[in-house]
Amino acid sequence: MQIRPLAAAVGTLLGFSALSLPTTAAHAATDPHRPVVVAHRGASAYAPENTLAAVDKADDLGITWVENDVQRTKDGELVIIHDTNLKRTTNVEEIFPDRAPWKVADFTLKEIKRLDAGSWFSPAYAGTRVPTLEKYLERVSHHHQKLLMEIKAPELYPGIEKQTLRELRREGWLDRDHVEHKLVIQSFSADSVKAVHKLRPDVKTGFLGTPAVAELPQYAKFTDQINPSFRTVTPEYVAAVHSLPGAHGRPLEVYTWTVDDGPTAARLKGYGVDGIISNKPDVVRDATAEDTSYSLPLAGVLAP
Ligand code: G3P
Ligand code: CA
Repeated sequence: MQIRPLAAAVGTLLGFSALSLPTTAAHAATDPHRPVVVAHRGASAYAPENTLAAVDKADDLGITWVENDVQRTKDGELVIIHDTNLKRTTNVEEIFPDRAPWKVADFTLKEIKRLDAGSWFSPAYAGTRVPTLEKYLERVSHHHQKLLMEIKAPELYPGIEKQTLRELRREGWLDRDHVEHKLVIQSFSADSVKAVHKLRPDVKTGFLGTPAVAELPQYAKFTDQINPSFRTVTPEYVAAVHSLPGAHGRPLEVYTWTVDDGPTAARLKGYGVDGIISNKPDVVRDATAEDTSYSLPLAGVLAP
């Protein structure tokens, strides 16, 4: 349903100018088109990415949804880190100088726990650790937040989908409340998303990328979201995605990434995206809070 054009049409019929209506906090609070804001790798512009500190920072900012990246250690433990090697976001080269190329998969959890995952970002975060998925889930739960979880580079970690789901279940994240309201599992790998959907068809999933419009029906069989880079998003693409029912029968959604400035966020909101993933979720939240439902062009409403 196109509520925004409808609102504009109502304004026209009642004889007031669309642009003259005030924008109030009350409007913003009820704006049906405000996209969900997701803190990318936590609030990663303000705290070291994929750490508990980044989750805490998102909570401090009042952000409910956080995104993270799950990978596996040498001894089979699930940890939260983006790159497939430890160099950029830890001091691994200093602590283990002879272990190049410092892949996540070549280190045990005990070794990874020795690493400082905060100093690279700021001395204020010295001593911050790479979290396990278990500790990460506990922290997200503690804040009553919700999780957009990415299975990162699943081709490196056979069976990681099953293992991740097992961990989620153990931590209480596969009960009805979480599955319906608090969890989405996404990946750049269609095979990984398919695997999650097959193992737990009730879990909401997302595919990271911009499949051709002609291919969207294939994706809709196993995913609920198409999550493209914002640089690839057009209003037409969003409409094409929305026109299809996803894996759970509701319209496919679009969560786009990674948007850190207000004007771009507002433009994407205008395109009708359902979610915006951001390192600066407060900026996106503020830029998209304004209720634009009365100020959009009438084109489309008055068209025959
Ligand atoms: O959630 C979207 C985003 O995380 C995808 O890119 O490279 O940051 O994992 P990346
Ligand atoms: Ca990610």
